[in-house]
Amino acid sequence: MKIIRTTDYDDMSRKAANVISAQVILKPDCVLGLATGSTPIGTYRQLAEWNAKGDCDFSQVSTYNLDEYRGLTHDDPQSYHYFMRTNFFDHINIDLANTHVPDGSNPDAAAACAEYDRLVHDAGYPDLQLLGIGRNGHIGFNEPDDHFSKGTHCVDLTESTIEANSRLFESADQVPRQAYTMGVQTIMYARSILVIANGADKADAVWAMCYGPVTPQVPASILQLHTNCTVIADEAALARCPQE
Ligand code: GLP
Repeated sequence: MKIIRTTDYDDMSRKAANVISAQVILKPDCVLGLATGSTPIGTYRQLAEWNAKGDCDFSQVSTYNLDEYRGLTHDDPQSYHYFMRTNFFDHINIDLANTHVPDGSNPDAAAACAEYDRLVHDAGYPDLQLLGIGRNGHIGFNEPDDHFSKGTHCVDLTESTIEANSRLFESADQVPRQAYTMGVQTIMYARSILVIANGADKADAVWAMCYGPVTPQVPASILQLHTNCTVIADEAALARCPQE
């Protein structure tokens, strides 16, 4: 794992955008795995700025998002479909037909997840997977468990994740209790992984991801075994990690 320290959120976002932009320049028709949450918003904003300036062309890129709440339609403002359009896709020259998010509006979980696995497999898996990290060490919506998950599946969200994500809803009651998420194994198939994290509330999770035992109780810890994983995090999120 390569760890890059940044001074603050903006510095983290710029550096992460640089890595993604380099991937797109090196391979214009690359496959990007994308994430939602507050953490990547600045990265997406920076990439959109470079796209507008003509420095980063997304016209041939295809994208696969990690996860989606079960039961939300694509135009529900709380859905990750909507998040991706409003925070990124609407601001870059990507072909929307090349963007993919698990179909949370399909109540048939087995069918929705199998279809998403087929799509990601047929695309050859991401060249670069962007990840945030939950306060309990979750990646995508892979929550602490007694085993690492494999393909896309339906999960019951933990109380800590519901509570953390409730800030984006009117109340915790409105946070869906289930989600479809790419599995840990699928995430590990990406040829390179970029994890971004900021803020003191991520310090324990970031330490456990980078230096703790590899355990499904901290899903992100498996990334220690990936051959090309970079963590870009600010001082606050790296507070428990040794300076290298
Ligand atoms: C959600 C998403 C994750 C994300 C995590 C952290 O649970 N499913 O992909 O990494 O939240 O979110 P934030 O970046 O808002 O802290």
